[in-house]
Amino acid sequence: MRSRKLSPAAHWTSPSDSAKRTPTDGPLEGGWLTILLMWSKVGAGSVICASYGETDLSTQAEHSTTNRRDFLFVATGAVGAVGAAAVVWPLINQLNPDASTLALASIQYDVSPIAEGQSVTIMWRGLPVFVRHRTPKEIEEAKAVPLSELKDPETDEQRTKPGHEEWLIMIANCTHLGCIPVGQSGDFDGWFCPCHGSHYDSAGRIRRGPAPKNLVVPPYEFLSDTLVQIG
Ligand code: FES
Repeated sequence: MRSRKLSPAAHWTSPSDSAKRTPTDGPLEGGWLTILLMWSKVGAGSVICASYGETDLSTQAEHSTTNRRDFLFVATGAVGAVGAAAVVWPLINQLNPDASTLALASIQYDVSPIAEGQSVTIMWRGLPVFVRHRTPKEIEEAKAVPLSELKDPETDEQRTKPGHEEWLIMIANCTHLGCIPVGQSGDFDGWFCPCHGSHYDSAGRIRRGPAPKNLVVPPYEFLSDTLVQIG
C-alpha cells in the first residue's frame, strides 16, 4: 500500500471552529487538509482511501476495504449458487415423466365384454397383458396341482384376486426370452411359447421348458365386479 499527498489544505483543531465558518471565510487556517489517495491493490481491484489533516484514517479505510471485499465474496458466491440452480433445475425436471406417461402408469379396463373361455390382450406401460376369463374347468385344474410339481411354486389363489378367481391377468411375455406365448395350447391347457417350447398351465405357471418363472402377474385390483385397474 502506498499513499500520496496531493495538496496542502485547511486544518481545523476542533469541531466548534469549523462550525463557526461561513462559505466566504476562505481556506481554513492553522493546519493542512491533506488528502491522501491510498491506492492499495487488494485482490483484483484497487481502493482509493482519503486521509484528512492530522487524523490518519488509513486503518479505518483498510477495515472498510476488507468489509467490502468480504461482501463481494459473499455476493459473488450467492449469485453463483442461484445461477447454478437455474441451470441445473431444468435438467433435473426434464427427468420426470411427462403427463402422458403418468396417465399410462395405471389403466382401467372393463372386463364385462370378455366371455367365459375368451382372452384379450391389452397394453399397459408398453407391455402386452393377457386378460383371461377362465372356465370352471381351468380353475379346477389349476387348484389341483401340487406345489411340489411346480418349478416356480405359487398357488392359484396367489395369482388371482379373492372373489374373482375366474380372471387371470398376466404380462404376456415368456419369462425365458420374452416371446409372446400362444393361449389355450400346450400340454397343460394353458399357454405355449413356440420360441423354445415352454408350457404354462391354466394359472400361467411354468410347467415344462426353459422358462424359469411363471408368467408375471402385474399389480392390479378390481374397482367393481367388472372394472379392473392395472398398475
Ligand atoms: S422365449 Fe419362450 S421359451 Fe424361449
